[in-house]
Amino acid sequence: MVNTAKFCFVIHPLSLEDVVRYEPSAKGKGAPIIRKIMEWMPAWNVAHVTGIRTPDGRETEGWFVSAALLPEQIVGFPREKVYERILRAIEIGTELGAGIAGLGAFTGVVGDGGVTVAERSPIPVTTGNSLTIAAGISSLFRGAQEMGIDSKEATAVVVGATGSIGSACVKLIAPRVKKLILVARNNTRLAKFYDSIAGELPCESSYTTDLSAAVRQGQLILTATSSTQDVIEPEDLQTGAVVCELSLPHDVSRRVAQERPDVLVTEGGNMLLPGNPRFERVREPGQDFDLNLPPRTALACMSETMVLALENRLEPFSLGRGIDVNKVIEIQRLATKDGFELADMRAFDAAITPEKIAAIRGAADLRRTNAAPQGIA
Ligand SMILES: NC(=O)c1ccc[n+]([C@@H]2O[C@H](COP(=O)([O-])OP(=O)(O)OC[C@H]3O[C@@H](n4cnc5c(N)ncnc54)[C@H](OP(=O)(O)O)[C@@H]3O)[C@@H](O)[C@H]2O)c1
Repeated sequence: MVNTAKFCFVIHPLSLEDVVRYEPSAKGKGAPIIRKIMEWMPAWNVAHVTGIRTPDGRETEGWFVSAALLPEQIVGFPREKVYERILRAIEIGTELGAGIAGLGAFTGVVGDGGVTVAERSPIPVTTGNSLTIAAGISSLFRGAQEMGIDSKEATAVVVGATGSIGSACVKLIAPRVKKLILVARNNTRLAKFYDSIAGELPCESSYTTDLSAAVRQGQLILTATSSTQDVIEPEDLQTGAVVCELSLPHDVSRRVAQERPDVLVTEGGNMLLPGNPRFERVREPGQDFDLNLPPRTALACMSETMVLALENRLEPFSLGRGIDVNKVIEIQRLATKDGFELADMRAFDAAITPEKIAAIRGAADLRRTNAAPQGIA
């Protein structure tokens, strides 16, 4: 066994349910109290990660360190206060021996997408977005295949198209579909981004801030927004559509699970780790830390940080809002070499089995039949 560099990864709860998963003693406490405690709660070392082992015997270990703030607190609090919390989490990781730090979910979104945090950090920082982009693209087209969609004839929609993840996804999806619609909120930024790349997109393309109108036109939807609310609603989805969800917290309304049995929603950013990984709670030794994912599974952004440690690539690999697609290709190659795989499909806290896919396709066929004009009896 060869030990490589170590890593730390900054995590934060995505919801009040997550807070209890992180800290079981929070159970039963009211939301206002939890929010108030978190406002003042210092960063803390949550889990020791061991057993990440490549097929050629390299092994890394690391720590999940919490910058304990909810997404709306990360967005709403004074920027400096949030940076301070994230940097303290990275310092804890550094003291434990980490040589590289990853920024989870909104800790990689806040401000300038990790750039300022990286400038102030004692060790190199990555948002992990390059591997998230790679995983998201693979997941979207795996979903298309499972649903029998001919991508070359399909319209795809990227929601959050001006973002760090979304903007690279636009470039990677365009060569594989007939038409692409870019969606974001800020029209000026969206128009500027569209003008800068429209000429190099090898498919029909357009942009809009009207999210519902765009989603209604798409068979393939990839969503990667920094919204703290649902943005994909069941009423907008086409029969038999595929929605690849990268956002944390999720963009897709839970109502889609209940009201649209004909639509395939898949969380696109989950990876299967190599070796025999273990996430052990630091405060309760012997107990596992629950990421709310199946065994051996982690987020793609965590996986990128682990790959960089395994490769001794202690560098700010993914930062800011202009991720180079060559980096996406490079990290995907390194991850595959190191034994990381795209995780099985999953959404709404449950696995998507082959039986479930058959049921979704059946529901889509039925809906199409019912929607078709009836012949005169
Ligand atoms: N699964 C994983 O492993 C993983 C890894 C990293 C990040 N993530 C998640 O991925 C998401 C995106 O991250 P990022 O770094 O790309 O963020 P980002 O650079 O801040 O981009 C966010 C994008 O979302 C758009 N947006 C925000 N609210 C919107 C709304 N209500 N409707 C439509 N568009 C909206 C923004 O456009 P405007 O500026 O116009 O609002 C922007 O285009 C986050 O939820 C993050 O937590 C997941």
